[in-house]
Amino acid sequence: MSARRPIPIEGGGTLKPVTVSKIRAAKGKEPLVCLTAYTTPIAQALDQSCDLLLVGDSLGMVVYGLESTIPVTLEMMIAHGAAVSRGAKHALVVVDLPFGSYQESPAQAFRSAARILAETGCDAVKLEGGAVMAETIEFLTARGVPVLAHIGLQPQSVNALGGYAARGKQAAEAEAIVADARAVADAGAFAVVVEGVVAPLAARITSTIRVPTIGIGASAECDGQILVTDDMMGMTFGHVPKFVRRYADVGAAVKAAAEAYAEDVRARRFPAEEHLYGATGPKIAAG
Ligand code: KIV
Repeated sequence: MSARRPIPIEGGGTLKPVTVSKIRAAKGKEPLVCLTAYTTPIAQALDQSCDLLLVGDSLGMVVYGLESTIPVTLEMMIAHGAAVSRGAKHALVVVDLPFGSYQESPAQAFRSAARILAETGCDAVKLEGGAVMAETIEFLTARGVPVLAHIGLQPQSVNALGGYAARGKQAAEAEAIVADARAVADAGAFAVVVEGVVAPLAARITSTIRVPTIGIGASAECDGQILVTDDMMGMTFGHVPKFVRRYADVGAAVKAAAEAYAEDVRARRFPAEEHLYGATGPKIAAG
């Protein structure tokens, strides 16, 4: 569970945990730093650098090798959400509501969100959808569930949208996305993820709504940025989306380590003397 008290930092001083109010108040200020996290050690590694850690349903593809986020379940989100909450002491932890756990009705969304909050110790939930989700966002926020909205490219709607292409190239679609942004902000979302839209549209949305926008494949003018951590650290193989900057090549480092280990084991160089337990206890009788 994320502890909401000051965290001592190396070299002295403390770091205050990030709250929903702090994220909301970051509108138009220093950009919010956000990344995905799915496990405790990654949450621990990212925590102090980030304002917000998202347990995204992208874990379905990144961790489980699924084709899309559609098959991700509430149980998967709860298991990973709890793991991340245990590792994060500073950043706000937000957990995705998976496909099918909230679209049916506000009451269904509340039941799913309540389980996520209670069973993971996270701070807020995220859901995909614009104007169509406004009633649900209002229902949740009125009942004590902070909601991060997600508009533009919505991966859970990939079957309806027919792919992951950038949105808002046509005027009518751009206007609909602006209307979505207004609707979710007016409904009470504390911030809005704007994914995969043309840059001028993301900038327009940012200057239109009163809560922070968090961009992914959107615009440097958003109030914050988010990336899938595995993309950012080079731990995903295959196609790298245009909007990703790789800050490390962890995948290559893991491959190289596995190769070196394999060579050592095959040549009987591992384990070496220093890895073995000495015979200091009672003598073990030979065969
Ligand atoms: O699931 C996820 O990781 C997301 C981010 C890409 C915003 O929704």
